[in-house]
Amino acid sequence: MVDIVESISIFRIKAVCKVYLIIGANGFIGAYMIKKILTYSNEMILATANSNNHLSLICDKRVQWRHLDVSDFAGVDLLSEDTAITHESLKIIYLAAYHHPDQVEKNLQFAWHINITCLSYFINKFYDTRCFFYPSTEMVYGDGGENKKFNEESSLNPLNLYGKHKKIAEEIVYGAGKNVLRFPVLMGPSLLMHKKHFYDCIIEDLSQGKRVEMFSDMYKSMLDFDTVAKITITLMESYTEDMAKCLNVSGDESLSKYDVGVRIAQKHGYPTNLIRPISLSDDNAIFAVKRPRSVLLDNAKVKKLLHLEEIRMKFE
Ligand SMILES: NC(=O)c1ccc[n+]([C@@H]2O[C@H](COP(=O)([O-])OP(=O)(O)OC[C@H]3O[C@@H](n4cnc5c(N)ncnc54)[C@H](OP(=O)(O)O)[C@@H]3O)[C@@H](O)[C@H]2O)c1
Repeated sequence: MVDIVESISIFRIKAVCKVYLIIGANGFIGAYMIKKILTYSNEMILATANSNNHLSLICDKRVQWRHLDVSDFAGVDLLSEDTAITHESLKIIYLAAYHHPDQVEKNLQFAWHINITCLSYFINKFYDTRCFFYPSTEMVYGDGGENKKFNEESSLNPLNLYGKHKKIAEEIVYGAGKNVLRFPVLMGPSLLMHKKHFYDCIIEDLSQGKRVEMFSDMYKSMLDFDTVAKITITLMESYTEDMAKCLNVSGDESLSKYDVGVRIAQKHGYPTNLIRPISLSDDNAIFAVKRPRSVLLDNAKVKKLLHLEEIRMKFE
């Protein structure tokens, strides 16, 4: 476990260094972001975690952990003061969110506070930083069907409160002149000891010869955590003020969860017939809150910006 006080003082001493600040770094995406910064940049990383017991997740001398609950405004003030000397060059990735769609509808005032009020407070305190990247979701677009591809200029019609919160959060981010990346559903192994991703649960079930039911009629431009993190860090490393403020970061392919399940089974050498296709209309019990059936994203802008010929889901 990293000593928090010691961690802060070390950070102050090295405050002249260039730094990435990751808020909510102890989640699925955060762990991949740290991995990619360590690979593609030589900057320091100040990583914040809400749960104290997960502060020491990734140990590297370039990574320093600090506790932060974004709803503790005094803590946000202190973080802003402690990093003030670096603000001009500071790159922030803001991942903290209350984001499970079913939970957002159940605890709507709490969700609003974390997703909107706290984001707004935080961004105001870090207004003068070099760049700030915020992960939004395909869910802001609403249902598009199997043929339509949404680009960044498409109108937004979120079907559930989670999508609506992300739409409002995006406006806060644009209002402060910062950047939004719209991600599809992401898949991949968890790099965290304390929580498994759906991907890990699929492998666990397959390894025990259990069948896994997956939707075969909901299509998304799905992508893996590793590729999304690599693209995000590449964008941040090449950041300029005139970079497009909103970018879809998604795969080229239109994939159902069933398609992805079959790929996972193949990759790990399990029989693909253990993956069983189900239809959204067969089973409404899995999702309490309405989800868009198909949301496909046009990723031409990010591909052009980074000179990428293709973006495909891959599992290492
Ligand atoms: N995964 C996807 O498929 C996907 C797709 C599109 C967009 N996104 C967005 O990407 C972001 C990160 O998602 P993820 O998949 O990495 O989810 P995650 O694993 O649940 O990570 C969310 C992080 O937010 C932190 N957090 C929650 N409440 C906080 C608070 N009050 N103060 C500080 N930190 C707090 C959590 O820390 P604790 O666990 O310690 O509370 C956790 O580390 C979210 O905004 C999500 O909406 C994700």
